[in-house]
Amino acid sequence: MSEAYMPGFGNDFETESLPNALPQGQNSPQKCNYGLYAEQLSGSPFTAPRGTNERSWLYRIRPSVRHTSHFSVHENTHWKTGPHISDPTVPIGQLRWNPVPMPNKKTTFIEGVRTMTTAGDVHTQVGMATHVYVCNTAMVDDYFFNADAELLIVPQLGTLEIFTEMGRINVEPLEIAIIPRGMIFQVSPVDGEARGYICENYGAKFTLPDRGPIGANCLANPRDFKTPVAAWEDKETDCRVHVKWCGNFYVTEIGHSPLDVIAWHGNYAPYKYDLRTFSPVGAILFDHPDPSIFTVLTAPSGEEGTANIDFVIFPPRWMVAEHTFRPPWYHRNIMSEFMGLIHGQYDAKEEGFVPGGMSLHNMMLPHGPDTMGFEKATSAELAPVKLDNTMAFMFETRFPQHVTSYAMDLETLHTDYLDYWKGLKKRFDGTIEGNWD
Ligand code: FE2
Repeated sequence: MSEAYMPGFGNDFETESLPNALPQGQNSPQKCNYGLYAEQLSGSPFTAPRGTNERSWLYRIRPSVRHTSHFSVHENTHWKTGPHISDPTVPIGQLRWNPVPMPNKKTTFIEGVRTMTTAGDVHTQVGMATHVYVCNTAMVDDYFFNADAELLIVPQLGTLEIFTEMGRINVEPLEIAIIPRGMIFQVSPVDGEARGYICENYGAKFTLPDRGPIGANCLANPRDFKTPVAAWEDKETDCRVHVKWCGNFYVTEIGHSPLDVIAWHGNYAPYKYDLRTFSPVGAILFDHPDPSIFTVLTAPSGEEGTANIDFVIFPPRWMVAEHTFRPPWYHRNIMSEFMGLIHGQYDAKEEGFVPGGMSLHNMMLPHGPDTMGFEKATSAELAPVKLDNTMAFMFETRFPQHVTSYAMDLETLHTDYLDYWKGLKKRFDGTIEGNWD
């Protein structure tokens, strides 16, 4: 299916798929054209300040109250929600996994979500969860909305077609998609199989980080965000709408498709972004800035500068710093870091971190380059080097990330992760001043 987009971040968009379907000069006419119903979708409280006030007006074949009937409970085994506490009998530690196996039975996107960690509390709308998804089957008469959270989807393998109430988004590896809380959608893996990562944001929506002295340009530029134009289907078959609500799953059966929005306007909408359009800013003489310079999107908490979630990428870039240890430095952090690798190789790890894999460096647990990475970085000739063929990312949160039993029992969990740091031997000699060799 074709898709088309409107550029900009958080704009007040408008789009109509039939001429004059969108009322002009008012939101709620006595009678809408084409016999449509007008409906508001509120993404913020009515009285939120203008800068964070989000809502859209949807003009649709049926109002949303016709897109739900009685709900019944529906299990979704591997999708977990915070608050959730790690098994206290399992010791803490730095963790790393190879990719999760692809399913050997038919699995839709929603069925294929496997939770790795949760953080915070969905009931108070703070925190997040990290998931991987694996799928090999299109959702045909099944639809989904998540009342708990906004979804940040990071494909690693295969393109997804995401048909939302407000339009179609095609998203491939090296792109991301954001689906707002409450938005009904359906996913088809275009290439047959698909795998990737999801950050489920229980808190305030993702927004662009402030750029401070960087100024008006670079990092993720607003025009590179793409919101779909209106698209719809008028289908009368047995359809099911699945809902996630406070961590529980429900299903309701209706006799038609809920994706019936002919036109809409507003600033509460899904979007996608191509990570290759991120314009990195970094060290041009010496030392290594904090990875916050690579923040694509940030989900604020109530405390300035302390994000509920930062979505950070490590894109291709030139490394030019003089007399500098160029990989990420050794680190302990009050924030908790979940990393994934979309493709290529991450510069702090020479071995073991593979595309589709992930790692977890939780609150205050030390981490940094492995032994080979250290050896290489400390002996390299410091000429300008293009770090290419790489795209890693991080979901970083102010809350500790509790690991699910699924993640701890996963056969791809590395039992030897700590060994990669074992070769970092003592080099200290108090009688020799100056650099070691
Ligand atoms: Fe770190």
